[in-house]
Amino acid sequence: MSGSPRLLLQLRGLHPEHIRRLLASSRDSSAFRADELDGVTIANLFFEDSTRTRVSFTLAAQRLGASVVDVSGKGSSVSKGETLRDTARTIEAMMGAGGAGVIVVRCRQSGGAKAVADSTECAVINAGDGRHEHPTQGLIDALTLSRALGREADFDLSGVRVAIVGDCVASRVARSNIACLTALGAEVVCCGSPAMAPGSLTSLGCAVTHDLDGLIPEVDAVMTLRIQFERIGSGGGGIGSEREYRQRYGLTDERGGRMRPGAWVMHPGPMNRGLEIDSGVSDGERSLVLRQVSAGVSVRMAALVSCARGCRQA
Ligand code: CP
Repeated sequence: MSGSPRLLLQLRGLHPEHIRRLLASSRDSSAFRADELDGVTIANLFFEDSTRTRVSFTLAAQRLGASVVDVSGKGSSVSKGETLRDTARTIEAMMGAGGAGVIVVRCRQSGGAKAVADSTECAVINAGDGRHEHPTQGLIDALTLSRALGREADFDLSGVRVAIVGDCVASRVARSNIACLTALGAEVVCCGSPAMAPGSLTSLGCAVTHDLDGLIPEVDAVMTLRIQFERIGSGGGGIGSEREYRQRYGLTDERGGRMRPGAWVMHPGPMNRGLEIDSGVSDGERSLVLRQVSAGVSVRMAALVSCARGCRQA
């Protein structure tokens, strides 16, 4: 399902050449015509909050000549109990026969994007579904890191070591990055407490460690994850106190100073400054944070074009 050309639901399982084509098309997004998606409707179904993803999908759609409609939980019939499937089918019915549109969906349910894909003929892009995946974020991060390392000619990340730090098991960003970076040849090491980075994550193709201080000088990039307070239950999700978390897993100014020369700092945003990352690091010369945000528009242009074309051919 994830490999269907009308869908971008996850990066896990995608052929590395498919990932490279999406990255190359993002790199070369200025080649897209301004009327590339003329007549196509992009429906942004965002049932969780978002700044970067929602705005960049809208800008991407506008740059390609598509029209955009926004649906969110508050202010839509979802607040009256309408299901995700019914909402998607309702939007599809307004787009016209044959699914002449792209549904971009962000939702709380892992697998929600697939549920939309299974219920409609539209192209569907997962903009983050629960703890499952956030595939365009994975592409953004791979494009940004490849550029920073001078690897954007072929997106070959062989020999590159990337640390992903934080609540990896709960993170859709971590899952998409593990899939994408390992497909491009990088080695990924997940780091966090045993609850946040359990050994079972190795089944995704990454290594696992609980020792951030040992890892810091050994990697070419450190990607720090946001602590997702909205997903942490009353049990605390194994995070402990904020002070303890920062002490053990925060990318502090001191840890930033112990990174390899030429190593990069990444964060998908939004950031909890002073908790998982210090401002001296997030705003310092190693930081790729705003470059990640900038890459969002071109990656989403490439994703929209790829899925809209895939839908026309289906
Ligand atoms: N990285 C990311 O998905 O950010 P938003 O929640 O602001 O879209």
